Amino acid sequence: MTELDFIPKLDNDFLKNGRVSYQSPSNIALVKYWGKYGEQLPENASISFTLSNCHTKTTLEFEEKSGTEFEFEVYLDGHREVGFEPKIHSFFERVVSYLPFLRKYRFIIKTTNSFPHSSGIASSASGMSALALCLLEMERMMSKGPMTDQYFAQKASFLARLGSGSAARSIQGPLVVWGQHPEIATATNLYGVPFTASVHTNFANYQDAILLVDKGEKQVSSTVGHNLMHGHPYARQRFATANNNLTKLMAILKSGDLESFIEVVESEALQLHAMMMSSMPYFILMKPNTLEIINRIWAYRKETKSKLCFTLDAGANVHVLYPHSEKDTVNAFIQNDLVQYCKNGEYILDEAGLGAVKL
Ligand code: PMV
Repeated sequence: MTELDFIPKLDNDFLKNGRVSYQSPSNIALVKYWGKYGEQLPENASISFTLSNCHTKTTLEFEEKSGTEFEFEVYLDGHREVGFEPKIHSFFERVVSYLPFLRKYRFIIKTTNSFPHSSGIASSASGMSALALCLLEMERMMSKGPMTDQYFAQKASFLARLGSGSAARSIQGPLVVWGQHPEIATATNLYGVPFTASVHTNFANYQDAILLVDKGEKQVSSTVGHNLMHGHPYARQRFATANNNLTKLMAILKSGDLESFIEVVESEALQLHAMMMSSMPYFILMKPNTLEIINRIWAYRKETKSKLCFTLDAGANVHVLYPHSEKDTVNAFIQNDLVQYCKNGEYILDEAGLGAVKL
């Protein structure tokens, strides 16, 4: 597949108006994407668990219009959000050659997140993938021939990627790879693909508790962070290590070796933040309670032989990952111990899921 495969052939019989809705989840990377080139293309391959409970629901209402400007309004929880509009405008500009009908309609985009607003959870992966899916559903309604499910999933991920890189991994589940990799023939920089190699039952319904450490706006956006990987002294080593970690993880996912899983996942999280700390300018997104939680996780693992581990996104919140078999004990540990490090005692219990659904 190339970009050209995503330029559609549409019927001249355009729809007058209509509406379409999708629910799309967030995802948590095990091997991280940090550093990009060209039009949102990743410098290394990444793999993530698709989540279930953290999702965005988006309804797209559309009505034919004249003129060639993009026309849309965005509503979050029923309230107009003009603050989101510049990002959507640049998304429209990036995808218009793949969705040429965008200028022919006036859109109302109504969106809600299952997680609290400004929880510090990036809504860009779930939000951009939900919008991409709604727009592609419109295309499906107007396209000449039938669209296969595989093409639909690939193009949805391709479009989502142009909104936010990690959104490419939110269409399907439970494990998605994005970025070309020598050992995964289907993997591409253009869109995320389901990880179809063998996965041990230890990883079935893997649990992810998101501990909300800091709910404020990020001091450094991920766009700025990615850009700081250009000319970063450790960039080349980092990209090679990430690809290597994905190779290691493939064997781990097959064997079910949870100790090695912990090693790769925690190392990936700390490397992501090490890249931020060694950028110029440098920055730190972890907070004191991020480190408190990491230390408590390490102590708990030593005391109990639990197989829980942590990972981090580009922020202070901690994702605690653990096998389904440890759900009750780890949930109790979080509620009795880790909760004290969460802002207002807030955390979200989630688990690996199967991806987006049409509503
Ligand atoms: O999707 P973006 O451009 O916001 O990048 C986020 C990248 C990380 O969340 C930090 C890592 C990842 O692979 O999801």
